[in-house]
Amino acid sequence: MKSFVYSNPTKLYFGEDQLSKLGMEGKRLGTRVLLVYGGGSIRRNGVYDAVMGELREAGAEVFELSGVEPNPRVTTVRRGAELCREHKIDWVLAVGGGSVIDCTKAIAAAAKYDGDFWEVVTKKAVVKDALPLGAVLTLAATGSEMNSGSVISNLEVEEKHGWGSPLVFPQFSILVPSFTASVPLDQTVYGIVDMMSHVFEQYFHQDSNTPVQDGFCESILRAIVQTAPKLVKDLGNLEHRGTILYCGTMALNGLLSMGVRGDWANHDMEHAVSAVYDIPHGGGLAILFPHWMDVASKKHPEKFAQLGVNVFGVNGEGRPVEKLAEDAIAALRDFWSSLGAPTRLGDYGIDDSKLELMAGKVTANGPRGHFLSLTKEDVLDIYRRAL
Ligand code: NZQ
Ligand code: ZN
Repeated sequence: MKSFVYSNPTKLYFGEDQLSKLGMEGKRLGTRVLLVYGGGSIRRNGVYDAVMGELREAGAEVFELSGVEPNPRVTTVRRGAELCREHKIDWVLAVGGGSVIDCTKAIAAAAKYDGDFWEVVTKKAVVKDALPLGAVLTLAATGSEMNSGSVISNLEVEEKHGWGSPLVFPQFSILVPSFTASVPLDQTVYGIVDMMSHVFEQYFHQDSNTPVQDGFCESILRAIVQTAPKLVKDLGNLEHRGTILYCGTMALNGLLSMGVRGDWANHDMEHAVSAVYDIPHGGGLAILFPHWMDVASKKHPEKFAQLGVNVFGVNGEGRPVEKLAEDAIAALRDFWSSLGAPTRLGDYGIDDSKLELMAGKVTANGPRGHFLSLTKEDVLDIYRRAL
């Protein structure tokens, strides 16, 4: 286990009655708020009205930015930052999924940044200040509601990158299971794949003596494996929605990465695919991760065997780790397929014409991945397997 420092300032409110805390939390941050949301799901499911009711009751002056895209664009960030300056906004409220929260984080920082914000996303500059922000989450997936990361796309240059700063942890996040009940089947499944992938990225590390970290990972994965099949058959079930919502937040709020260095190459490979083809993040991960596992398990089968036995109920008695690893990966493939997740790049109409370009993006700054280091050729191999 490595040395580590852990700090997570986001105050989490979880439960059906917790939106009532919005007014009080917002008041602490100021009166002029920019409400940021996506393409209109919150207007259809009543969340917009509920949020506006709370804000008005607290005396907030509300300005709005709607239309944040899935895979949010830097152009939208620039528009949001402009609005913040124009209206002298005190704080920013995200109401939506990971894309809306990521965009809100970028807006909050861009409002206090003098240059072009793409410099920050591409890590040529670091933010020194940001407006405070809060979130009302409507989709269980990314963990953005309780972390300091944000992923922004720039279609002009076909790039999508994560950036982060402790300044953009949400001050508070409100998680109401029923707000996620209207998430359609496909997005529900993408979210489940994404949160499982976050666990995998941190579970597959090269550090020793991590029984607690491994146990946290396995516990979250087991809960998802038990709950997701029931949820996809009963999308309105609030107990299952609540379990999955909690899993998504715990999968990427720092809990699992204490003392370990995760891999994260699958996220880099997926971000390159969605930068070029604008596909859903969870869909891309469902396609790529099992192929990476095929490759990684040939070198380091032990952790895959552990995953099989502790999460997927693979019978470990007297069988070689290589076999157990194969069974674990087969079980994951079966599990994601049973939920209806995509399995091939071809499912999104992606052929081999841009694999080289994408692999180049992934490895532009050298090999990727800490559990398994991938060169450009290795990334290309995984993309080809996934066609
Ligand atoms: O735009 P609206 O109308 O709100 O519709 C959204 C969108 O079309 C819809 N939706 C959200 N809540 C809903 C709902 N529909 C019905 N009912 C609801 N309650 O779902 C669609 C997808 O939303 P999006 O926010 O894009 O999904 P997700 O939460 O999966 O976020 C994906 C983005 O997050 C990034 C991804 O790369 C991608 O850009 N990530 C962010 C991370 C982070 N900040 O820590 C980590 C992740 O690994 C990930 O990379
Ligand atoms: Zn992800």
